[in-house]
Amino acid sequence: MIRRAVPIGIGHYLPDRIVPNSEFEAMEGLDTSDEWIRARSGIERRHFAAEGETTSQMAIVAARAALDHAGIEASQIDAVIVATSTPDLTFPSVATMVQAGLGMDGGFAFDVQAVCAGFVYALANANALIVSGQARRVMVIGAETFSRIMDWTDRTTCVLFGDGAGALILEAQDGAGTTDDRGILATDLHSDGTHRDLLYVDGGVSATGTAGVLKMQGKEVFRHAVEKLTKTAETALEKAGVSVADVDWVVPHQANIRIITGTVKKFGLPMDKVIVTVQDHGNTSAASIPLAMSVGVADGRIQPGDLLVTEAIGGGLAWGAVILRW
Ligand code: ACO
Repeated sequence: MIRRAVPIGIGHYLPDRIVPNSEFEAMEGLDTSDEWIRARSGIERRHFAAEGETTSQMAIVAARAALDHAGIEASQIDAVIVATSTPDLTFPSVATMVQAGLGMDGGFAFDVQAVCAGFVYALANANALIVSGQARRVMVIGAETFSRIMDWTDRTTCVLFGDGAGALILEAQDGAGTTDDRGILATDLHSDGTHRDLLYVDGGVSATGTAGVLKMQGKEVFRHAVEKLTKTAETALEKAGVSVADVDWVVPHQANIRIITGTVKKFGLPMDKVIVTVQDHGNTSAASIPLAMSVGVADGRIQPGDLLVTEAIGGGLAWGAVILRW
């Protein structure tokens, strides 16, 4: 017998306001087009939070949806982990705000900051807490309001990102210790801080005292993405003791359709095994994987027993992959 972190519920939230590419096309001086955005990124629309709507508010709605899906109460959760780079406040953590918002009076909560790889990092942390017996049920959330850190005069970045939240509940269950077990079978994390200048926000508490705006050398990040994502996913599959042929669904970070197709092609998998939401959500950073997973579960594509690969790369650079049997 081996303790596994098994998914028991998932949910998501997207803000009401849907922004089609045509809105950027109409922005004076931005000089972009629906055609360019679709062709270069695959993005057709994204959701933006309403004025005053915060990351924790979106996370709480997603968390409630996950609790409903699991059929459990918030009081049955031991730990809340929120992956975000766009917290409501410098502190306290978004996770403690979620804890309060759900009416939890016990357990513990903290944020994880690994930008677009945040959800993968949070899953690895939740798995470690469960496998080591420190928590029985963990709420893992990815939630972002990237619309608040955009430079609206920079057409190379502002057309790419969106807001939203996704939440997944993991529960300790006994498995046989085989690859047929449900739950997280392997995790693989990496970072390389020497690539800081490829993707960063030019403000922060101790440097400028401001929130700053996102800066990205897109082409360079793209170059790292396909290679590093393929490698980490292959390593994670190897650690789990499964092969590419066993994979039912790839649930990738949704940054760019060309990165997704490039990576999946390198795996040797067809696109009909990939959950793609980038056209509707844009890049929601740490929220993109739980959003895509929740969509795939809600529409019935992801079924109990399916083998999932999730992989992400983002600012840091930080990247990684998780192998999970649903
Ligand atoms: N509209 C019109 N033209 C544009 C736009 C735009 N919105 N943006 C850039 N261009 C122009 C450029 O100025 C350039 O023009 P030039 O040739 O005259 O210089 C031309 O289009 C091509 O630009 P590239 O940057 O070479 O375009 P590319 O095909 O690389 O696509 C993109 C850019 C979409 C950013 C891509 O590089 C990408 O997706 N990169 C990776 C992003 C990513 O994965 N980030 C990691 C996660 S995010 C996180 O962690 C927060």
